[in-house]
Amino acid sequence: MEDGIHRASSAVWPYPRLVAHRCGGTLAPENTLAGFDACVQYGYRMVEFDAKLSADNQLFLLHDDTLERTTNGHGAAADHKWQELAALDAGAWLGPQFAGTRLPTLAEAAERCARDGIAANIEIKPCPGRDEITGTLVASGAQKLWQEQTPPLLSSFSYEALAAARDAAPSLRRGMLFEEVPADWLRIVRELDCVSLHASHRYLSEPLVAEIRAAGLRVLAYTVNDPARAQELAQWGVDMICTDRIDTLHHDMLSAPANPV
Ligand code: G3P
Ligand code: MG
Repeated sequence: MEDGIHRASSAVWPYPRLVAHRCGGTLAPENTLAGFDACVQYGYRMVEFDAKLSADNQLFLLHDDTLERTTNGHGAAADHKWQELAALDAGAWLGPQFAGTRLPTLAEAAERCARDGIAANIEIKPCPGRDEITGTLVASGAQKLWQEQTPPLLSSFSYEALAAARDAAPSLRRGMLFEEVPADWLRIVRELDCVSLHASHRYLSEPLVAEIRAAGLRVLAYTVNDPARAQELAQWGVDMICTDRIDTLHHDMLSAPANPV
């Protein structure tokens, strides 16, 4: 990958500064369509969510490998067909007002993005051992589903999944996701032809952000819930701040959007 191509692809940047983590942060059951309602309420124009595959390869939204924490189901998500997953309650765990909330398909999430004018960071979150097929099917599915709207930004902690996504839908933007940025981050993002690097804000520093941006990449920091920390990261030039607190982090409290890298 040549530097010039990186710069050209990342200079056209359609995404806003603030991103709602897992659709609606902590204001709605994570990775459900109820999160879009919260985004609309608080003026958010971008969501991050986690996408994976059912046993019969339906693309749907869920964070964990297992069902217990955020649904009334049991066991590994990858062991269930979509018909079983679609019947689960994915909202009652957060409160009775969310009872009956369902796990959404990727197609339903795309519809809500289009209806509400919201951009998406689709985090490819493969179930164990399913990295390549999940990367392939999420990327090809996203390319079909997001034809008339801002193209989604794909990301993953999984190198294998992101490589498969690159091969399946080369034109979709990709961001490599790390918790702590490793020493060989530049090699990795170049191999995967990424336009952005996503990392836990805990491990970011002003010099590191500057180094990443000087390489022609955008930076996403997760999960930032403190307004003062969000302001600091924005001043450093962090392009996207992913938050659970869409009720307390507002666009007008941050510095002007970063210039093209
Ligand atoms: O993509 C940023 C963030 O969502 C990564 O962590 O565990 O919340 O998916 P996690
Ligand atoms: Mg995520």
